[in-house]
Amino acid sequence: MPTAPPDLYVVAGNPVAHSRSPAIHAAFAAQTGQHLVYDRLLCPLDGFALALRAFAQQPAARGCNITVPFKFEAWQLAARRTPRAELAQAANTLRFDAEGDGGWLADNTDGAGLVRDLTVNAGCALAGRSLLLIGAGGAAAGVLGPLIEQRPARIVVANRTLPRAEELVARHADLARTHGVMLQTARLADCGVLPGLCAFDVVINATAASLEGAGVPVAGPVLQPGALALDMMYGDKARPFLDWAARQGAIGRDGLGMLVEQAAESFALWRGVRPDTAPVLAALRAEVDGGAA
Ligand code: ATR
Repeated sequence: MPTAPPDLYVVAGNPVAHSRSPAIHAAFAAQTGQHLVYDRLLCPLDGFALALRAFAQQPAARGCNITVPFKFEAWQLAARRTPRAELAQAANTLRFDAEGDGGWLADNTDGAGLVRDLTVNAGCALAGRSLLLIGAGGAAAGVLGPLIEQRPARIVVANRTLPRAEELVARHADLARTHGVMLQTARLADCGVLPGLCAFDVVINATAASLEGAGVPVAGPVLQPGALALDMMYGDKARPFLDWAARQGAIGRDGLGMLVEQAAESFALWRGVRPDTAPVLAALRAEVDGGAA
């Protein structure tokens, strides 16, 4: 039995009570024999840095995940950033490498989690395919780089506020060029309406529309029959999107797999060991959906 106190991690956000991350990381720790405790840290909306520094000052604190709405602030606070966090301008993971925040390393594992869920869990290869990414906020920014690295033929980023999509695409233009990916923007209202914006192979909803109960923000013809349509939400929030996908003859997928995979990527960064996600995702799926696939 280890005698040292366990290493400490938290998920920092507001709200954070709903977060499944503590259960996911507890399962990873049990599976890999890692001695750690993972908790929730509710941070005041105007006091994220203060709350996080107070946590980080505990001798056993080793890192944290960051969720809405602090991913940009976390990215700003870190002394060092991985290339994918730099490109996203958002961090969902911090590793405390040294005393104080002089040694905080920021990473963004959301995109790697999404790609792994799509390619491994859903068995959907992305190379050569056409992708529609809906949204241009932090969630979309976190995944665009890793999606480009899969070398799809084309990615269209559509957003309600077009300049945000244009800014995101401009920031990723060099990466898209070096990977031979056609990267474009579109207005939401044109998606599924203009001929060039129909029949995508993969559609990813990274907007907060499902969270707000605002419905699916694009027209059905964005999906070709058999396409894969993923919403980053899960549970009841994802249900309208999944029903919509089914009505178009597409394969709907919620964000539960991405959630577990991004957690595994964070865990690997912190602990140097990669957990087996399959049993953890299966258990979570049973809990959230009452056993539905
Ligand atoms: P997050 O970090 O979750 O991405 P965000 O940065 O606030 O949060 O971004 C929210 C995204 O959801 C944005 O792309 C936003 O569109 P705008 O940039 O036009 O605001 C999008 N969004 C939110 N509510 C929406 C709705 N009802 N319909 C369409 N898009 C919506």
